[in-house]
Amino acid sequence: MKTFNIALIPGDGIGPEVVAEGVKILKAIESLDSEISFTFTEFSWGCEYYLENGRMMAEDGIERLRAFDAIYLGAVGYPGVPDHISLWDLLLRIRKEFDQYVNIRPITLLNPSLTPLKDKTEKEIDFLVIRENSEGEYAGAGDWLFKGKPEEVVLQTGVFSRKGTERIIRYAYEEARKSKRTLTSISKGNALNYSMVFWDEVFEEVGKEYPDVQTYSYLVDAASLYFVTEPERFEVVVTSNLFGDILTDIGAAITGGMGLATGANINPERNFPSMFEPVHGSAPDISGKGIANPIAAIWSVSQMMDFFGKEQWGATILATIKEILKEKESLTPDLGGTATTQELGDRIVEILCIQAAKEGVAPL
Ligand code: NAD
Ligand code: IPM
Ligand code: MN
Repeated sequence: MKTFNIALIPGDGIGPEVVAEGVKILKAIESLDSEISFTFTEFSWGCEYYLENGRMMAEDGIERLRAFDAIYLGAVGYPGVPDHISLWDLLLRIRKEFDQYVNIRPITLLNPSLTPLKDKTEKEIDFLVIRENSEGEYAGAGDWLFKGKPEEVVLQTGVFSRKGTERIIRYAYEEARKSKRTLTSISKGNALNYSMVFWDEVFEEVGKEYPDVQTYSYLVDAASLYFVTEPERFEVVVTSNLFGDILTDIGAAITGGMGLATGANINPERNFPSMFEPVHGSAPDISGKGIANPIAAIWSVSQMMDFFGKEQWGATILATIKEILKEKESLTPDLGGTATTQELGDRIVEILCIQAAKEGVAPL
């Protein structure tokens, strides 16, 4: 029996609504598989905590998270607390402090009816974005000079270290080699004449060690076009922090929307906990209505299982999501259904049990 200790940070807005459904899945796995157990420790950090305590997490928050096997996060950010404070003191802080430098975001169409793209099917939309997650445009470096004066100047500095750039590019080459897929680097060397020229050089240099991997290199503006017009061009993609952020929302748009997009923040060396979360935010426009789609958060549980070495469960959860997507009436309104978040979560647990029995992962 292996026990995995999971820190829950439901966070703000729809975060707690979707995390509750992900926890249902984890509990179902625990009840179906005698080899696995979980402990859950919930941290009520977020914007409400900030309004009471003047900070987004406890002072020793990072220390308290350090020993967990994984962090499962909902979403951060809510009206009333400036976004740059809430995100930098919780989500981005965790990514940085735990050196979660790989952000894995699958762009996979799970049901052909979900894409707004004409004539595109699961075959054409199936790739992996590997986003640099620790530095780049998100270095947090800059300056604000002559505030409020006519000569006011604001600097936001991108930081691309050799170590940081090489390790993410190497990770992507390894992933492409392992899965025998092509690798596409997305950058912007024509305009960003330091950072992205450096990025392109490192991509080429590291590539010499991977002659078996077929590579492509696109400018981010053209790549945005191809994401929509010819997504079949992509198999594994590696890109910088900000470009990866934006491109993966386009990825979400072509695969069914924000309610389906997942991301894993990985520290590959396993020196620190990795973090699993949906790509979407706290969605203030729908929070409290019980209609948030929990599938993105549940897909993150699948990524968590893969990370724990329980790939069979990862695959079973994904197969379950594919099944539920065939039942239109069981889905939330963003996908054209009438179900509530909880009803959809409950139905996913039911299908998971059937699916697990079918695949021989667990008895019915
Ligand atoms: P958002 O992702 O919260 O919402 C964008 C749109 O997608 C909205 O129309 C929303 O209703 C819809 N949507 C998102 N998730 C959904 C779901 N599960 N089911 C159905 N519809 C869903 O982005 P935003 O509105 O730009 O940001 C809101 C807040 O969240 C901001 O404070 C922002 O900084 C923060 N944010 C946090 C994270 C995170 O914690 N990882 C990610 C993105 C944005
Ligand atoms: C994401 C989010 C975050 C990011 C924000 C909330 C800081 O948009 O995870 O995609 O930009 O990384
Ligand atoms: Mn984003």
